[in-house]
Amino acid sequence: MIKRIGVLTSGGDCSGLNAAIRAITLRATQHYGWEVMGILRGTCGLIHRPLEYTSLTAANCDQSMLRSAGTILGSTTKDNPFYFPSADGSKIDRSDDVIEGYKQLNLDAIIAIGGDGSMRINSKLIKKEGINMVCIPKTIDNDLAQTELSIGYSTAVDVATEALDRLQPTAASHDRIIILEVMGRDAGHIALAAGVAGGADVILIPEIPYTLDSICKHIQNIKEQGRKHVLIIVSEAVKTQEDASILRGTSYNERPRYGGISEYLCEKLEEKLKADLRFTILGHVQRGAQPNSQDRILATAFGVKAVDMIAEKNFGKMLTWSNNTISSVPIEAAIDIYNVVDPKGLLLETARSIGIYVGEL
Ligand code: F6P
Repeated sequence: MIKRIGVLTSGGDCSGLNAAIRAITLRATQHYGWEVMGILRGTCGLIHRPLEYTSLTAANCDQSMLRSAGTILGSTTKDNPFYFPSADGSKIDRSDDVIEGYKQLNLDAIIAIGGDGSMRINSKLIKKEGINMVCIPKTIDNDLAQTELSIGYSTAVDVATEALDRLQPTAASHDRIIILEVMGRDAGHIALAAGVAGGADVILIPEIPYTLDSICKHIQNIKEQGRKHVLIIVSEAVKTQEDASILRGTSYNERPRYGGISEYLCEKLEEKLKADLRFTILGHVQRGAQPNSQDRILATAFGVKAVDMIAEKNFGKMLTWSNNTISSVPIEAAIDIYNVVDPKGLLLETARSIGIYVGEL
């Protein structure tokens, strides 16, 4: 019989995590009468001794959690339990400590809210056995396969759209070309969606090659038609024309840290067009906004469903969202494929149809 469950958030934070934690707590405590333990800083809370957790109740998960960004439980991107940093700087496997911590806390199941990196770790933990887990997808990048939406993506798109809205009047006032660089890792979902919603003239995403000459030609056409300002949105993993990634070193979790492609484009286009350009790198602003209603609803629905799956003892799955319905897939199905922008997809076609340059399709 289920009596006590845990919940943790891992990987990069995003908007909507607290809304999911709240829904899990309300459903588990009020409907099933279970206890809910919030594990602190991802799986670290189960690795460290004493265990690091907090009791979650309906009283301490009030409505303010719907509108707060970040995660009240904390998160980590650098503490992979299978490759855990130790005091002497070496990396060791602490995954047994996660399972042991889960047992010490008397958990009957755990809900892990994470992105693709976390799902890979969760999948390995599930294979070790001894831990009952249900996973909820979250990532501003929307790069998890099998689900149309992950928590945090929609709000991030809103933030990027609002940035274009704010850049447009200043670009227009000074007849400038302004480039906005957005996050998304190796998938261009944020750039494409915000570019369409915010009226970008050029959308560059890692999935589609571009040429500087084509961008210049496109800008010249816009100017010849009488508009003097131009908005460009570029996804952080877009490469230079010479096919080089622009990186800011390696992050702790051995994944590339992108950043700076907008500066490269700015320099190159300035040289070619002899025009006045500026660039803005939006960065982590995309992760910290008040969750929009779509993310609150998605997070709440995922939270409830995750608890119900535990009640059904339907473990080892990741929840998915499609056509206003929640389903689940074995976790491997979610990490087998990296969800990039479909070059034949509706949004890309829509962008092209209204004359946006989206690269050399
Ligand atoms: O995966 C989410 C994300 O925000 C990416 O869009 C971005 O490349 C990365 O995380 C940034 O990671 P960090 O917070 O470690 O700098």
